[in-house]
Amino acid sequence: MDRLNRRNALKAGGMLGVVGTIGLGTTARADPWTWSPEGSVAGSGSGVDPMTVWDPEADELVAGLIDRGEVPKVNELLRTWTRNGEALPAGLPPELRDFMEYARRLPQWTDLGKLDTAIAFNKKRGLYLGVLYGFASGMMSTVIPKEARSVYYSKGGHDLKDRITKTAKLGYDIGSSNAYAADGEMIVTCVKTRLVHAAVRHLLPQSPHWVHSAEEDIPISQNDIMVTWHSLPTTVMKHLNSWRVPIPAHESEAFLHSWQVAGHLLGVRDEYIPKSWPDANAQAAQILDPIIAPTPEGTKLADRLLSLGANIDLSILSKPILGAFTRFLLGDKIADGLSIPREPVWDPLLQVAWGPFIAVREGLLGAVPPLEDPYWLLDEFLRKAALIYLAELRLPISIELPTMNRDM
Ligand code: HEM
Repeated sequence: MDRLNRRNALKAGGMLGVVGTIGLGTTARADPWTWSPEGSVAGSGSGVDPMTVWDPEADELVAGLIDRGEVPKVNELLRTWTRNGEALPAGLPPELRDFMEYARRLPQWTDLGKLDTAIAFNKKRGLYLGVLYGFASGMMSTVIPKEARSVYYSKGGHDLKDRITKTAKLGYDIGSSNAYAADGEMIVTCVKTRLVHAAVRHLLPQSPHWVHSAEEDIPISQNDIMVTWHSLPTTVMKHLNSWRVPIPAHESEAFLHSWQVAGHLLGVRDEYIPKSWPDANAQAAQILDPIIAPTPEGTKLADRLLSLGANIDLSILSKPILGAFTRFLLGDKIADGLSIPREPVWDPLLQVAWGPFIAVREGLLGAVPPLEDPYWLLDEFLRKAALIYLAELRLPISIELPTMNRDM
């Protein structure tokens, strides 16, 4: 039975009632795909709408592994494969081994000099990046309806904290000093994630819950991956710019480059990966901005994210304060959509003091007494909030292929 028929069969099979009152936001792009491949790292391409492209090489292969019951063995073997330069473990099914050898290669357009500059940038701006990945990108992922739904109904959805931690690993790996080097882990993380996404494409269409709530027939198209991609580097850079953090052009380009390479390793075709920030911003305006909307699934995910800070410091990283920061970063519409309550002290404080605080930190406003109350408070917040995800990353994390959907 092909996917479409199975979907119809599941829908028609009286399963519509199972998920109750899930609201359907409009998650489809309103306009046809017009972003030109000339703006991509490939420089040219078919121009095919990425909403209709998935990852055929990986998808077929991983579907076969799942259907033949080979995934537990593969997961066990892949647990030992952690460093970019490491040989693949012996015993993998030959077709998987061949695919992974191909998928782990850096694209020929990789610029190692830029990757080095990106490392320096990540080090220099680690504090801001930590907070922005967590509260701009992380919270934004909860208002990307297709992502929120697929995460919620896939296996990882039953333990949102574990799931958030695993995703944070990618943000950590790309920012580490050896990200793409032989002793780093970013290539491994990307290739494993590419396989996980392929597994999800095979499994979610078999979930009556997902089939009922989703608009698409197969999850995680190349369009969807780029939507999430923009919630990461594009959104982070947008905030750094709006905070007026001085970033030399070569550092900003290098940061983009490290994410271009990540996109490629996640299986995105080069013709969809933006070659410059203006091209990235133009693509984000087309595919990310119009689809942002709350969903019941995303709101639960957001609630879990806002509770993470309590593990570190219950006072300054309390849920209301993290909620205020989310409101400050993503705006009232998104915060209200996620049912984040207003915070009487921090909402106005962030509005008034964050800009000057950053300017002082960056030495742009001259000297201000170091213990001036609001600045001290914001500095404390920045330092601790940047730790939230790191704290979740203490244990070794193994990204594994799922064999089933969430047990609802
Ligand atoms: C799994 C990152 C795009 C849905 C993962 C994992 C990572 C990751 C690191 C492995 C963690 C785990 O096993 O839980 C990314 C990045 C993306 C991206 C960096 C884009 C740049 C997407 C999109 C969707 C999606 C667009 C859906 C529309 C999922 C799901 C899982 C997953 C459902 C599996 C969760 C589970 O059941 O364990 N992703 N992802 N991802 N991702 Fe993505």
